[in-house]
Amino acid sequence: MPWTEKYRPKKFDDVKGQDLAVDKIKSFTKYFGTGKKALLLHGPPGTGKTTLAFVTAHEINSEIFELNASDIRNKAKLQEILKPAMEQQSLSKKGKIILVDEVDGISGYYDRGGVLELVRLIERTTYPVIITANDVWHKKLSPLRKKSELVQLKEIPYDIIKDVLINLLRKENKFIDHNMITKVAIKAKGDIRAAINDIQTLSHMEEPSMAVLEERDKETDIFNALRTVFKGKPTEETLRVFDSVKMPLDEILLWMEENIPSEYQGEELARAYDLLSKADVFKGRIYKQQYWRFLVYENIFLSYGISSAKKTPKTGFTSYKRPTRILKIWLNNQRTAKKKSISKKYARYVHVGTKRAMNEFPVIKQIIKSNPSIQKELKLTEDEIEYIGS
Ligand SMILES: Nc1ncnc2c1ncn2[C@@H]1O[C@H](COP(=O)(O)OP(=O)(O)OP(=O)(O)O)[C@@H](O)[C@H]1O
Ligand SMILES: [Mg+2]
Repeated sequence: MPWTEKYRPKKFDDVKGQDLAVDKIKSFTKYFGTGKKALLLHGPPGTGKTTLAFVTAHEINSEIFELNASDIRNKAKLQEILKPAMEQQSLSKKGKIILVDEVDGISGYYDRGGVLELVRLIERTTYPVIITANDVWHKKLSPLRKKSELVQLKEIPYDIIKDVLINLLRKENKFIDHNMITKVAIKAKGDIRAAINDIQTLSHMEEPSMAVLEERDKETDIFNALRTVFKGKPTEETLRVFDSVKMPLDEILLWMEENIPSEYQGEELARAYDLLSKADVFKGRIYKQQYWRFLVYENIFLSYGISSAKKTPKTGFTSYKRPTRILKIWLNNQRTAKKKSISKKYARYVHVGTKRAMNEFPVIKQIIKSNPSIQKELKLTEDEIEYIGS
């Protein structure tokens, strides 16, 4: 179980580094009915927005009623929320909070119409509404800003993150070097969820090293580069945007491919894919004909080219995705690794070569699978046994 879930704060006191926001929320609930009916929690990822919505509900003994974009479009569903408001209050003591999480998360989903529906809901409901957003200053959210109490969540200072990590490790009975904890806390740049995930990963390792976390650094670099390409105007700088990303251009191409649809729509989408395929053509020539100078062209299409597929710069926050194709390759390599380690053990056991064991693996797998005693004899690890069973 991820520690971020296991130790998700339940009370206001458990939420760290957001005292100002917590105070504002407390007075919002205390004086509810006299002022604005909606609370708009906004700020960077992993700072406690969703958590605070649930904590607030818990603290005022209310249930959360979560709405997504399509619910807000759904007239019947809206009626259902609005109508029983009066009856409900007399039937059960438990109140309700309406939560609309990540209102800006999915680009294009909450268009102007959807935002206006949400505004109407706020006007008509008798329940407190909590809305969360990363980028509250998006143009399309302007009607919502007027209707809501804005509460900004800040990046969590690294020393507070450090305290949270130390506490978690104590509860889990795990030891990690103090320097390492500090490094993790600093590297998180205010994102407490990232820090907790990192420390959990490290706690599973026999010799925790920052190497695993460098992988995540690489991801931060590519996320920033994607943002530059997709959001900004194409400029000279866009041409060099991938220079600082420590990834081969072909891997960058997969990231672009995966994320074009989360940013572009309609004509832009078609243009972006066209440019991507041109980059792909050069990639093909590079491999077939060893024309390394074509790397320059592949790069131009991926950076400046795809950036210019849009008419105007984009705003708002988009959470980019990891390419699924890479993941598949990676998973495949993992599997091959297990196959190899099992074959090695088996080979030593029956005195044949590892290569031969690898070749005969399907048969060997069956033999091992149906003989738990062999599994023990070979000293298979849990992972390996699981692999054999699959
Ligand atoms: N202020 C905080 N104090 C303690 N733990 C926190 C805090 N903020 C986040 N966390 C931890 O990080 C996890 C994720 O936080 P949460 O889901 O609230 O982030 P968020 O701000 O909603 O992020 P996103 O913008 O990605 O939706 C929580 O389950 C909790 O473990
Ligand atoms: Mg959230």
